Amino acid sequence: MSRWEFVGRTDELNRLLAAVTGEAGRGLFFSGSAGIGKSRLLREGVNALPTDRFAIWSIAASATTAALPFGGLVQVLPAEQPQGLSPAGILRWALNLLQQQAAGRRIVLAIDDAHLLDPPSAALVHLVARAENATVLGTLRDGEQIPLPIRALWTDDLVEHVELTPMPPEETAGLLAAILEGPVDAGSADRLGQLSAGNPLLLRELVHAATGSAELKRTYGIWKWTGRLELAPSLTDLIDTRVGKLTDGVRAVVELVAFGEPLGLHLLKQAADQADVETAEERGLISVIQHDRRTNVRLAHPLYGEVMRRRCPVSRTRRLQAHLAELLEQVGKRRRDDLLRVAVWRLDSGTAQDPAMLLDAAVQAFTRYDVPLATRLARAALNADGGSDAAELLATILMFADRPEEAIGVLDAVPPEPGDERRLCRWLTVRGMVSYWGLSRQSTVDELASRVKQLGDSADQSRVHAFEAIMRLHGLDTTKAVRLSQRVLDRPAAGVAARELARSTIAYVQAAQGQLNRSGTAIAQVHSAAGSWRTDMPYLQLALELARGTRLMLTGDLAGIDAIVADEFADLAGAGDFRLGTGYLAILQAYAARMRGQSDAAMRTSLGACAVLATSRVYAGLAQAERTQSAALRGDSAQATAAMAEADRTHAPGMAVLYPWLEQARGAALATSGDLPGAVKHLGDLVDRLRSDGFAGHEVHVLHDLVRLDQAGMPVGPTCSDGGRRTVAQRLAELSERVDGALPPLLARHAHAAVTDSATDLLAVADDYAALELTVFAAEATSQAVQRLRRQHSPAANDARERLAGLLGRCDLIRTPALQAGAPVLTEREWQVARLAAHGAPSRAIAERLYLSARTVENHLQRIYAKLGVTGRAELWAALRSIPGHDGGDAG
Ligand SMILES: Nc1ncnc2c1ncn2[C@@H]1O[C@H](COP(=O)(O)OP(=O)(O)OP(=O)(O)O)[C@@H](O)[C@H]1O
Ligand SMILES: [Mg+2]
Repeated sequence: MSRWEFVGRTDELNRLLAAVTGEAGRGLFFSGSAGIGKSRLLREGVNALPTDRFAIWSIAASATTAALPFGGLVQVLPAEQPQGLSPAGILRWALNLLQQQAAGRRIVLAIDDAHLLDPPSAALVHLVARAENATVLGTLRDGEQIPLPIRALWTDDLVEHVELTPMPPEETAGLLAAILEGPVDAGSADRLGQLSAGNPLLLRELVHAATGSAELKRTYGIWKWTGRLELAPSLTDLIDTRVGKLTDGVRAVVELVAFGEPLGLHLLKQAADQADVETAEERGLISVIQHDRRTNVRLAHPLYGEVMRRRCPVSRTRRLQAHLAELLEQVGKRRRDDLLRVAVWRLDSGTAQDPAMLLDAAVQAFTRYDVPLATRLARAALNADGGSDAAELLATILMFADRPEEAIGVLDAVPPEPGDERRLCRWLTVRGMVSYWGLSRQSTVDELASRVKQLGDSADQSRVHAFEAIMRLHGLDTTKAVRLSQRVLDRPAAGVAARELARSTIAYVQAAQGQLNRSGTAIAQVHSAAGSWRTDMPYLQLALELARGTRLMLTGDLAGIDAIVADEFADLAGAGDFRLGTGYLAILQAYAARMRGQSDAAMRTSLGACAVLATSRVYAGLAQAERTQSAALRGDSAQATAAMAEADRTHAPGMAVLYPWLEQARGAALATSGDLPGAVKHLGDLVDRLRSDGFAGHEVHVLHDLVRLDQAGMPVGPTCSDGGRRTVAQRLAELSERVDGALPPLLARHAHAAVTDSATDLLAVADDYAALELTVFAAEATSQAVQRLRRQHSPAANDARERLAGLLGRCDLIRTPALQAGAPVLTEREWQVARLAAHGAPSRAIAERLYLSARTVENHLQRIYAKLGVTGRAELWAALRSIPGHDGGDAG
């Protein structure tokens, strides 16, 4: 009774097929309890799809593959994955591959038990679901924890999510007949159907339990069950009993599969008796599946594995896992994944003794950014006498898991032998990294500088210098940082990783100084060399990302930010627990949202960044600064102040180079809290500091912050030779010649228009901001124009106000000083009257609604017109909508 025909479930099957063949091709996921029939339904659905139109991949995730990065997708991905790709790069590569193989057909990816997918596989499934020409189908068991990228499938509306309900009685009767291969007496079918509560697996196990006993008999071809159960036994109890009755040989087969699935048939045959394998298959406990050129064995149902693993005593479990590892080692590891499988079995069975193998596996897990697994493997390698290689790898991984103290302990236990320079070089850099960024010990830099002298080899020296340089940069000693980096680049002997690290340092400095073009070229170069440095120095990615992100923010290139965020899947790659990377991308994302006036998204994303980075000393302050800005944008001064205090508390002195962002945020927090003089003074001082540090790229933005506070005419900087000081507007004009990109001249025009009170120019500047999606700046420049036109009693004010209303309509709630400054203040009563009037209610109706006299309403309206600077009702609607935080409101 291993396989019987498919019964019922017509609606569900049609729905599944429609999900794939329908116009939208939006996928479908079935949830349901164990044994309810999800996997079978999915299989039947997929088998019914025409393969000439659809390229179909079916995947069954399992408890054993969940432990391996990309374990869930071994059936889909080729054995050899390219080296040197970032996690997002691997995902993109995999998607391209599927698309190639699909050759124009629509991709259908069917994932059984998607809750058991390992994080990178789950991320890939999400990516496929997003692709234009793909549909994702799947099943999930109720009550299990679901990986985030899978849950996001339906929250992002990429798939429909449906609960698979128990089978109705007429279908269980049909199913029973199919299982028993013959008609069943109606009363028996009824009772068994009720006991099973519409669960096919339970029904099958009930029949199994009764088979061979006198309770289940066939008379004149009709099956009759005379059992006397009142309550259905639980599904697991039934399976438990069945498994308990297996012969030793058959049990051994099922156990091996339970711990090793998917297991090659050739392996299983080496470990078990052929006859026992066949019996297990006949009894419907395991199934043999042909895939590509391999024949794999899996459990017929995941519950068998769960019961089996639970019944297996610890000592036996370990013996089995060690046995599986030996088997795979003997036949030779064919796929790269085999290495990880063997390593995990060795770990779990307590037989991890081969340090080289463990180290290899740890590197593989780390380059796939599976931090938890990489940690376990590297530690095991160290414990197996893996020596300093293992110690360095473990320390690096621990540092990225925010456990720097442990990392230092690991390194200090294996100091390099005197005279071993290569070792000393590695040890110094890894220890330096942990100590500087992990433990915030600034003395690290000088220690490193003095010990590099012990190295004779030029390549070794370069590597240490490249590290020293980026530490100096982060500690704000930019001159030395650039000098050292240049030295590394000038040395032919320097290795690739050292050179590219040095180049990233220089690229950062160039961006901060406003040489955004040269910075961009350098960044592109580091990026294109990634294949040559990623295995040697995976964390170089962070230096690259920081340089790239800083440059994009300073350029105001929101589309560029969108591109890298989409590229790296900020939220999904986070599945691998590489927090610094994902946290930093979230900061960039929040910044882009903020510039566009999407204050809800900015708030949400910056809070997310704060949460991810809470335990890191590297970017925590930066994340809080971004949250401060988001709160300030919304006029939430309490949160802005609180976030700024958090920024100060968490900001590491070793990341001093980030000060412009923190201080800019402080200015915003002060302004939002109403302390405009304080904000202006603070930003003025900041301009001076940036000027003396040579950070022109940052300076233009802070000068512009002063323009936004209507201080374009304020003097800044030192006294010039002519005895006077430059104004904000003049300084911006000066810098727009030196700082690359389209933004600085625009900022300078904004300042000039503000100083000269030219509403026309302010409106033109606003248009240019809007074209760059810098919507907040656009709205503020327009608001400044409205204020000037009102002062001049110009009839053009009305049109400008319309434009302001249009811009604010594109934003979530935003309340900045520039927008507030020109906003009239209405009383509660005036608001009520104004809203109703703006919606076209005549004065009499307003009077009735508000229980006022018509004359009072008229008086209110006159006062409102005066405050808003409008001449009558016709202009009221736009005038109300141009007040930040109010969309005109509904009439109520
Ligand atoms: N409509 C059906 N017709 C015939 N057999 C069915 C049907 N639905 C389920 N079965 C059989 O019942 C058993 C349990 O179903 P299935 O494996 O699909 O359950 P499941 O919901 O996937 O459970 P789990 O959550 O434990 O994976 C299987 O042997 C399956 O072949
Ligand atoms: Mg299933």
